[in-house]
Amino acid sequence: MADGRASRKIIICPHAEQAADMGARRIAVLLATAVAARGRGHIALAGGRTPEALYRLLADAPYRDQIPWDSVEIFWGDERCVPPDHAESNYRMAHEALLTRVPIPPGNVHRMAGEAEDPAGAADDYERALHQACGRPPRLDVCLLGLGPDAHTASLFPGSPVLEERQRSVAAVRTEKSHTWRLTLTPPVLNAARYAIFLVCGADKAEALRVVLDGPVEPGRYPAQIVHPPEGRVEWLLDREAARLLK
Ligand code: 6PG
Repeated sequence: MADGRASRKIIICPHAEQAADMGARRIAVLLATAVAARGRGHIALAGGRTPEALYRLLADAPYRDQIPWDSVEIFWGDERCVPPDHAESNYRMAHEALLTRVPIPPGNVHRMAGEAEDPAGAADDYERALHQACGRPPRLDVCLLGLGPDAHTASLFPGSPVLEERQRSVAAVRTEKSHTWRLTLTPPVLNAARYAIFLVCGADKAEALRVVLDGPVEPGRYPAQIVHPPEGRVEWLLDREAARLLK
């Protein structure tokens, strides 16, 4: 689109449950299609709370049985620098909601080492694993993303230097608010994805969604606007509460 926004699809569901189901349905189709076409399917999971319902649906029929788990490789879009059993761990949430409930080979699950003493070293290690699996720049089949109330996505926060990163695939970032470290995929990886799927639910996301989708294009202030894969598609799966301020 002329204003620099990629071709995008917006689906508004009555409730968060339906949006999660739509997300599970889309991911099952996209991963099965990727495996049929290229022998492997690569997905980066989102963190936070919203995607948990989607992960639980992926672990149940019918979606569980539509996905060739032994040919799927799981990555993360970002991770908090905490141990994998920590309440804040994005890995822990996905492990409990999905990974313990599907027949995916352990070697296909690529966890970000949030527990590492050296976040920058952990980012380097993850970057090597990602390049080995997905090439360089790493082309994921699906990148599942959330949206924060401040319009961040993954761990790309407003005003962060990582928003300008064009070489690295994975970076260690220090969050301004909580002064904690995180690991995150960088804009080049998100924009190499075949499909970037945002799952955004809840009234607390309505204003962020309005500015990201209908406001001025200012990715430095609204980092989710960075995601517009030139050779991919962006799909927004919303519930009515989150979408209530959209034009
Ligand atoms: C994280 C996420 C982050 C998340 C948004 C929305 O590690 O926190 O990757 O980008 O997707 O903050 O989080 P909620 O789904 O909890 O609202």
